[in-house]
Amino acid sequence: MIDPTPAHPWQAVGLSRNLRKKPLPVLVDGRPVVLFRDEAGNARALHDRCPHRHAPLSGGKVVAGEIECPYHGWRFQGSGALSALPCHLGDLPKIGVPAFAVHEEEGILFLARKPGPPPYAFLASGPETIAMRLENRVRSTVLDVAENILDATHTHFTHKGLLRGLGSRRYRVQVSVTAGPGWVEAVYEGEPRQEGLVSKLLEGQRGKGVARFLAPGIAELEFWGKNKLNLSTTFHLRQESPETVHGIAILAGPRQHGLGYVKAALLRPFFQVALRQDQDILEASSRNAAAFDRPAPVVGPLDVLRLAIADILEGRIPSFAGTTVSHVMEL
Ligand code: FES
Ligand SMILES: [Fe+2]
Repeated sequence: MIDPTPAHPWQAVGLSRNLRKKPLPVLVDGRPVVLFRDEAGNARALHDRCPHRHAPLSGGKVVAGEIECPYHGWRFQGSGALSALPCHLGDLPKIGVPAFAVHEEEGILFLARKPGPPPYAFLASGPETIAMRLENRVRSTVLDVAENILDATHTHFTHKGLLRGLGSRRYRVQVSVTAGPGWVEAVYEGEPRQEGLVSKLLEGQRGKGVARFLAPGIAELEFWGKNKLNLSTTFHLRQESPETVHGIAILAGPRQHGLGYVKAALLRPFFQVALRQDQDILEASSRNAAAFDRPAPVVGPLDVLRLAIADILEGRIPSFAGTTVSHVMEL
């Protein structure tokens, strides 16, 4: 299991809008964690296991900002300390549940074993940006999902007609790949406006495109117009269990005096279809690999990010860090 590196301790575990009055169970590195809101409305996170008889606390309820176990009603504060033991007279025993640090940023719930500097949420966040947030799960690995998001070559096939046109016309594109500790980035230049439905809806003149991966599990795409960023998508990925990748996707673009809202509303269903297409092919590939005893995949000549993403996920610096690797391909 990949542990978040000390420099990037935060994992995006859910959306703020899904944490209201009821406790929210999530899986973190294969273990159940419960989130709830204290009386001040701050999100808190504890191991989702009552120390008494190990009942899941998420099956209980939130009472006055504390979480009450569904079995015998023991209650715990956001710090994890026991605060009530029904039917007991006298002092409370000193018992607690391990707690996590929680940080909410831009509508996303981030969790860490220890607090640290605030997490990165997404590109160009702030009042001039409108953002749409989605949550998703795929039976796959973070490496395969991140590569899928950042890979330009599958769009002709997996998303034919949606992100790409129906024709087979291709354009020669320059790709420059750079890397450093905890990041890798590919810049695509020379692509004209694409012909898929989504591209038609969104983009004016097409400038460059950027695909990057950041530790601990952030896959991000930038679509530039002539001089400005038209759209970015940021995916926070984590291996929530050995089988499943949890993802939070943020689609962000300029507000454009309200026009941005119209575009976002129109775009949402397309984005969901694209996510479903990717999910289907990733899950089919993962099942198929398992049927063949998970052989090592071939890294093809156009898989320009795969090895660097694998390095970053394993805490290594990509081998070509500090240099620029150039490719030319037809997209
Ligand atoms: S199991 Fe939680 S109070 Fe008994
Ligand atoms: Fe895709």
